Amino acid sequence: MMRLLLQCQPHRGRGGALAGLFVLIFPVFLTSFFSPLGHASPSMFTEWNVPKPRHSRILKSALQRETTNSQHSDLWIPLANQGWRPCVESPKTPSLPEKSEGYIQVFLDGGLNQQRMGICDAVAVAKILNATLVIPHLEVNPVWQDSSSFMDIFDVDHFINVLKDDISIVKELPNEFSWSTREYYATAIRATRIKTAPVHASANWYLDNVLPVLQSYGIAAIAPFSHRLAFDNLPMDIQQLRCKVNFQALAFVPHIRQLGDALVNRLRNPLGKNGALGTSDLQESTVGAGNFVVLHLRFDKDMAAHSACDFGGGKAEKKALAKYRQAIWQGRVLNSQFTNEELRNQGRCPLTPEEIGLLLAALGFDNNTRLYLASHKVFGGEARISTLKKLFPLMEDKKSLTSKAERAQIKGKASLLAAVDYYVSMHSNIFISASPGNMHNALVGHRTYENLKTIRPNMALLGQLFLNKSMSWSDFQQSVLEGHENRQGQIRLRKPKQSIYTYPAPDCICHS
Ligand SMILES: *[C@@H]1O[C@H](CO)[C@@H](O)[C@H](O)[C@H]1NC(C)=O
Ligand SMILES: *[C@@H]1O[C@H](CO)[C@@H](O)[C@H](O)[C@H]1NC(C)=O
Ligand SMILES: *[C@@H]1O[C@H](CO)[C@@H](O)[C@H](O)[C@H]1NC(C)=O
Repeated sequence: MMRLLLQCQPHRGRGGALAGLFVLIFPVFLTSFFSPLGHASPSMFTEWNVPKPRHSRILKSALQRETTNSQHSDLWIPLANQGWRPCVESPKTPSLPEKSEGYIQVFLDGGLNQQRMGICDAVAVAKILNATLVIPHLEVNPVWQDSSSFMDIFDVDHFINVLKDDISIVKELPNEFSWSTREYYATAIRATRIKTAPVHASANWYLDNVLPVLQSYGIAAIAPFSHRLAFDNLPMDIQQLRCKVNFQALAFVPHIRQLGDALVNRLRNPLGKNGALGTSDLQESTVGAGNFVVLHLRFDKDMAAHSACDFGGGKAEKKALAKYRQAIWQGRVLNSQFTNEELRNQGRCPLTPEEIGLLLAALGFDNNTRLYLASHKVFGGEARISTLKKLFPLMEDKKSLTSKAERAQIKGKASLLAAVDYYVSMHSNIFISASPGNMHNALVGHRTYENLKTIRPNMALLGQLFLNKSMSWSDFQQSVLEGHENRQGQIRLRKPKQSIYTYPAPDCICHS
């Protein structure tokens, strides 16, 4: 089955890639990056003991923290102009080839953000080949079972229109090629299927291997396609085109944007929610009123198991995660060679909700901070969240801010839920993610492009600080502040091999 084939591919890469190629590791988490609201398997409750706070010493101080107004208001100051501006320009004259070499089809797996990068790369590959792109097919993710198509998620007419001078795009194949479907490729080896594209293939690889297929058959279907185009040694216009797709052409469908706007509105004007009056005067005088932080919390079983860290859920948790690792990766999780302490020292453990709460508190966020939680299901359930909620009582999410009727269109659809979170994240004053991953990377890149504040946790520092059980709150706070001074959205130039979608400078934003 091609489906199986496609989905196994990234997993195979995982073990060997752990040496440090984050781009290769993180995409595979994506299968369970986004969780449908309210999903909890009954068996979960036997898999962990109710997690207790693990850092009770500093937590106690954090709960009693007094935040000075100046400290708190500094946090909300938008990033200053850093002297960069987007430089993704449309060609002065349309640069469409005189004659298309044929049709390029791609089938994209992964979660929403992995697919998003696949879409950008597909446009680039079609451009390299002077081909016509067929709107990419989004595979159904085995975990989340969301069958939403490109058109269900993205505004397809906007997409085609923004790119109309760069590349030809068709919504579907003309009749003469209608045989070229996903099902067709699932049942046999086909001459028009390209399945050997190496990870980070060069432009020449496509010219050497795909162009001949296009020229012979008029069509080429590339799968697997995730992460199959290099980030280096490509012409500037191709790099800029990738950014143009990511930051300009990909807009969510109107109902997602409307729901996102409603959420943003309710976060900014909390009292408008049910029209209640009352504490509005108080709100206005409060520093940071009208502002909100988005916390992307990825703490699901897949992530927890893959990290091989200990999260304080006792023996039951250890056993459950070990079992999961064995079932999914059969011993290929290299992290499990290290002790919990070693992993924490290296900053390889995702931050727990408690830890990210302590980080935010140390950074100076007070208990009036409006925190929007992006992505819901947490390994360990509500109990795991409770400490975070104590630190930040004004915590909201999609569910708390909308009615059932408003959520009806996105209910149970992982990609649409993720799209709403992405939209809200792009409209927040500050974004922070508890662990690296595709959602984190996508938003870091997009927010860099728009010069928006984004806090990147210093995982190694935090790992070390949390291991020190005798540390005082003031020492903790001071180390955290120092360790995050330069991690709030300052431009970082892309290094070789790094993703253009995470680090758009200097390819797609230029000195102004
Ligand atoms: C917020 O913190 C202050 C100061 O520590 C405390 O007096 C107040 O009760 C807290 N508010 C909430 C809602 O927890
Ligand atoms: C694509 O078209 C451009 C100009 O129309 C041409 O210079 C280039 O060689 C073509 N590339 C391929 C692969 O056909
Ligand atoms: C723990 O933190 C304290 C400061 O609060 C420091 O003096 C001590 O050396 C640290 N211990 C270790 C093992 O790093």
